Amino acid sequence: MMRDKRGANVRVFEDLEALSRAAAEEFSNLAKQKAGAGTAFTAALSGGSTPKEFYQLLATPEFSATTPWLNIHLFQVDERCVPADSPQSNYKMIREAMLDQIPMALSNFHRIPAEEADRESASDRYAADLRRTVGASQAQWPQLDLLYLGMGDDGHTASLFPGTAALEENTRAVCPNWVEKLSMWRITLTRPVLNAAARVIFMVSGAQKAEMLRQVLQDVRDSPRFPAQLIHPENGTLAWYLDRSAASLLSS
Ligand code: 6PG
Repeated sequence: MMRDKRGANVRVFEDLEALSRAAAEEFSNLAKQKAGAGTAFTAALSGGSTPKEFYQLLATPEFSATTPWLNIHLFQVDERCVPADSPQSNYKMIREAMLDQIPMALSNFHRIPAEEADRESASDRYAADLRRTVGASQAQWPQLDLLYLGMGDDGHTASLFPGTAALEENTRAVCPNWVEKLSMWRITLTRPVLNAAARVIFMVSGAQKAEMLRQVLQDVRDSPRFPAQLIHPENGTLAWYLDRSAASLLSS
């Protein structure tokens, strides 16, 4: 275990399987603690490929049988503006990897309706749903218990891509974001709401992320270029879960 320049916890695992297992154990333990205390557990999940094994693991009997699903509300960190059954849909990936296999009430999974033509209205309704579920007023940033983020090899996280408009968003919890290099709209949770979470875990795997990870964690701060550096929870904790290949260029 090490700490990055800004004090975040950095854990390096042998491979993606070990990393996914640690994430699943933490998810399940926190969910049980919350259920024991009689409060709902709220988490937001990322898309992309890295967390798929983690979601599949949560759906196996080893975790699924003891996880208090009825007490859990799951949100999405971001979604691609495609139909929900598109191969590019993050929701489709999460549903197939996990939701189809677990006894969670469908209404407890909060899907970003990113296929809607009116992306502003879809974003505003999602923000309202998030506030209502976690019990935040319009004047507060909603606090999720746990947030899983990924990082692209260009330094983006959620759908906060380098140089895009959503990096500057300071007033809305959720907003559409045009990503020129992908020629695609996304809908994403914004920096203030990501930083309001009680616990944030970045999951990064693979040698192709190693150089960007070194820059994000150990180079000077340049968040317009490296949006992952925007994440530093104000009243929460931040951890980086890495596999050995992703961590290979970090100096300890
Ligand atoms: C998405 C994500 C995104 C993801 C990173 C890393 O919609 O793509 O939610 O922010 O976490 O792009 O993706 P990989 O895990 O596929 O490398």
